[in-house]
Order: sequence, then C-alpha cells, then structure tokens
Amino acid sequence: MFSRLLAVLVPIFLAFVLRTSWEHDNVFFIYKLQSQGTTHSPARVLFVTAHPDDESLFFAPTLTSLLSHKRKLDKDVLSVEVYLLCLSTGDADGLGKTRQREMIHALDVFGIEEGRWWIVDSPSLQDNMTARWDPQVIADVVKPYVVEHGITTILTFDEKGISLHPNHMSLPHGLIHLLSTQLSHPIPKLYTLISLPPFAKFQGPLAPVLAKYDLALQTVWHYVYTYLFGTPSEVPPDERVSVPVFVSGARDYLTALKSMYEHRSQLVWFRWLYVVASRYMWVNEWLEVRIPSAVMVGRV
Ligand SMILES: *[C@@H]1O[C@H](CO)[C@@H](O)[C@H](O)[C@H]1NC(C)=O
Ligand SMILES: [Zn+2]
Repeated sequence: MFSRLLAVLVPIFLAFVLRTSWEHDNVFFIYKLQSQGTTHSPARVLFVTAHPDDESLFFAPTLTSLLSHKRKLDKDVLSVEVYLLCLSTGDADGLGKTRQREMIHALDVFGIEEGRWWIVDSPSLQDNMTARWDPQVIADVVKPYVVEHGITTILTFDEKGISLHPNHMSLPHGLIHLLSTQLSHPIPKLYTLISLPPFAKFQGPLAPVLAKYDLALQTVWHYVYTYLFGTPSEVPPDERVSVPVFVSGARDYLTALKSMYEHRSQLVWFRWLYVVASRYMWVNEWLEVRIPSAVMVGRV
C-alpha cells in the first residue's frame, strides 16, 4: 500500500521539481552583470570555450537561462546579450570542418544571435588531448572580441576544466592573463564553472532535484536567520558564501539535449551515457575570479 502510494507520489514530485528552472542569486548576478555597463545598457556576457560541443555538454544551463532572460527588477527590465567564442575547431581527429558545421546548428538550437559567436582556427590553439595552450596566445586571440563588443563578463572553465582536458584547463589562465595585464578599465568580470569531484558529477536527473532542495534550504535558513537575528542586511551580498547557480528545468535540459544531438560526429556511446548522467547538463555553479589590478601586478 505504502509502496504504491510512493510509486504515484514520487513521479509527481519529480515532474513538479523538474518542470521549472531555478536561478539562484541570478537576479542579483544578472543585475550585477548589467550594472557594470553604463546605465540601461545590457550586460554583455561572453562564453569562452575550447571545442565545438563544450557549450552543449557543460554550459547549457547557464546559456538557456541567460538567453531566455527578461526579468523585471525594480521596474527595470534587465537584459543580457550572449556571446560565445570557441577557441578551436575540434580538429583532433581531422573532423574540424564537420564539427564547425555541427556547432552552427547547435548554436541555432540555443538561439544565439548571428554575429555573436565565433569559432577560432589558430595554429597555436589546436584541439589536442595533451597540449596546454599558451596564456599569451589565448589573451591575444580573445582580446579583440572583448574590446570590440564591450564585453562586461566572461564565463569559462575553471583550472580543473570539468574533465581535466588540458585545453579546457588553459582557458582561465589565458583569461586571467588578459584581464590582469592587457585591458584598460572597465575590466570585465570573470567567472569560472566549478568542477566537481567525480562522485558528484554523475547524478543525472537527481542533480537538479538535489540542487533545488539545497537552494530551498538555504533560502529557508536565510529567512529563519533574518527572523531570529535580523542581521543579514549588514552582510554585503558580495561577502556571502553562496555562488550563482543555474538549475535547468526539463525544457532547458531538452534544449541542451537537442543541441548536443547536432554534434553527430561526437555522439559515440559513452557521450550518450554522459548526457544522461552528467550534472553539468542540469546544474552550473560559478565562481568569481578576482582579477588583480594592473597596478598591483606591477608592484608584486
Ligand atoms: C599534441 O601536443 C603534443 C605536445 O603536448 C605534441 O607532441 C603532439 O604532436 C600534438 N599532436 C598533434 C596531433 O598536433
Ligand atoms: Zn572540450
């Protein structure tokens, strides 16, 4: 009897939880992104990836959320322009041309506007399982895109590169180099996608459920704390330990799946396992990287 009840309730509960996307700290995050520009100008967010398919495999929850973003906060409509720069054609197996074509379709699924994405084909940035890319080269390649489009925030891999691929791992180093030495003010903000320990990577559809549960607890705790101690307003939001989190709903997940399906040349059996089991298909957590100012760099 009890198990039958569970058999009915659990799917209903899951369907309810998976139906919606959840953006924690995003209103604040996006507000912050926007307020870096001049008043009322949109936030311009640049994703920097290493290979065609990175956007679908790792960054989809954030991409879908930012691309659908139109939110009212204090009567202002916040807006975000999304840009994407992929630093190689993914030519490790000689499939560079094919993979570029596939990526065009994948970006169409997300709905990134024409003229806001680019695939770089540089001899010094080739898809290679063992090669680290030179930070100076990365900085030189990315710089013109940042300057020309007035990018206010850059999103990329962290030092563990999610999958420990050395190409991924090179990106934060190149971007820190760019932001700390090569640009004048205002310097864009840099966020890196947090790599998780292996056991946490493969929660599949449980990932959004757990993440939402976590966030709900945090929210409740926040209110209880405020009620009891009345102090959170004294804690500047910047100092909070929480990080921006994007949790996909079922529709966002399907978008990610559809875009991955466009990367046909990459759909070998273990990638199917990945898209079913991976947490990054559902949840993205971001860490802000503080950029030492040019002056500081000179002094140190
Ligand atoms: C990949 O990089 C390594 C050095 O890290 C180099 O020896 C090798 O030739 C490269 N492979 C290709 C196909 O370029
Ligand atoms: Zn990659």
